[in-house]
Amino acid sequence: MEWFEDEALWVDFSAVFFSAERAAAAEATVASSPLLDVPAGTEVLDLGCGPGTFTLPLARRGATVTGVDLSQALLDRARREAAEASVDVRLVRADMREFVEPDRFDLAISMYTSFGLFTEHGQNMRVLHNALASLAPGGRLLIDLFCKEVLARDGGEAKIFDVEGGTLTVRGTVLEDWTRFRDDFVLVRGNRARTAFVEHTLYSAVELKALLGEAGFVDVVCYGGFGGEPFDNHARRLIVVGSRPATDRDDA
Ligand SMILES: C[S@@+](CC[C@H](N)C(=O)[O-])C[C@H]1O[C@@H](n2cnc3c(N)ncnc32)[C@H](O)[C@@H]1O
Repeated sequence: MEWFEDEALWVDFSAVFFSAERAAAAEATVASSPLLDVPAGTEVLDLGCGPGTFTLPLARRGATVTGVDLSQALLDRARREAAEASVDVRLVRADMREFVEPDRFDLAISMYTSFGLFTEHGQNMRVLHNALASLAPGGRLLIDLFCKEVLARDGGEAKIFDVEGGTLTVRGTVLEDWTRFRDDFVLVRGNRARTAFVEHTLYSAVELKALLGEAGFVDVVCYGGFGGEPFDNHARRLIVVGSRPATDRDDA
């Protein structure tokens, strides 16, 4: 089993990955970001939607959102929270390496380092090809992730956080000459400790931009924050946006 197929990981660490603070921050980001400013009725695809962190805020603003995730537990939580908030969302259990709905979406998003999870480069490329095929001509893909430059600048030292009922230690490790990154977590509550890890490819801006170009996206631009800040030495995240060509000729 691959680490991301472990339902227990997403359930046991839900309060860490998908806290109320993150949900509130996502709501504020969707309300203010020019990159996520979608007119009502926009068809949005949220790849690796988790418990609906961005799915629900986008739907609340009038977008027609399809959330895709592998984890049944996270989709159940998204469905529950959508029902409680009377928000209409479509949730699909599928592997992003397989999910394609041709020519349908105006915007596809991949948030909080949900891209680059697969060890094999070809599988990450398949996600890009699927996203391109699922976009309507002229539609945009937005990928938000933790990148090489931010890690190199900030140092990636181990950190200890207070979490509900205990403490969490997070220790990052660069793997394979800065190709992959692994975060190891130790969650201690009372006399119980639970360990887990997540792993992803470590892209730089220029590398990810090139991959989108290779997959067939055009007008690829990197940002350093959801306010549309440039990707410079102050960048907090790497956000890459590319478009499906509006016509076949743009593709040439
Ligand atoms: C870091 S979480 C981010 C979730 C959400 N985008 C957010 O911002 O909170 C990554 C998500 O990708 C999902 N995921 C992992 N592998 C997947 C796959 N092969 N296909 C679809 N979803 C997958 C996980 O279940 C998890 O919900």
